[in-house]
Amino acid sequence: MSDFTFDQLESGKPVKLEKAGKSICVTRVGDEVFAIDDTCSHSEASLSEGEVSGFKIECWLHGAEFDLRTGEAITLPANIALATYPVRIDANSVTVEI
Ligand code: FES
Repeated sequence: MSDFTFDQLESGKPVKLEKAGKSICVTRVGDEVFAIDDTCSHSEASLSEGEVSGFKIECWLHGAEFDLRTGEAITLPANIALATYPVRIDANSVTVEI
């Protein structure tokens, strides 16, 4: 079963998905959809409440930025990468594969 329809996801507006015991931040950027761990690697903040610009998401709590494509921590104070998950887009359905 899919997690979202593609139309439900607004480009640049991340949403939080609870799946398989994990909290995942799902972000559409144009025609692509990315999934990374929702909890910032710096402290307990939900990245899906952060700001997206291009392929980056900024944690609202202390401003660390992560690359949505790779999970890489780009800006301090975070320096640990986040896990990423493959996303399957099939017609209008979007599935995060865990
Ligand atoms: S909790 Fe995200 S930068 Fe501190």
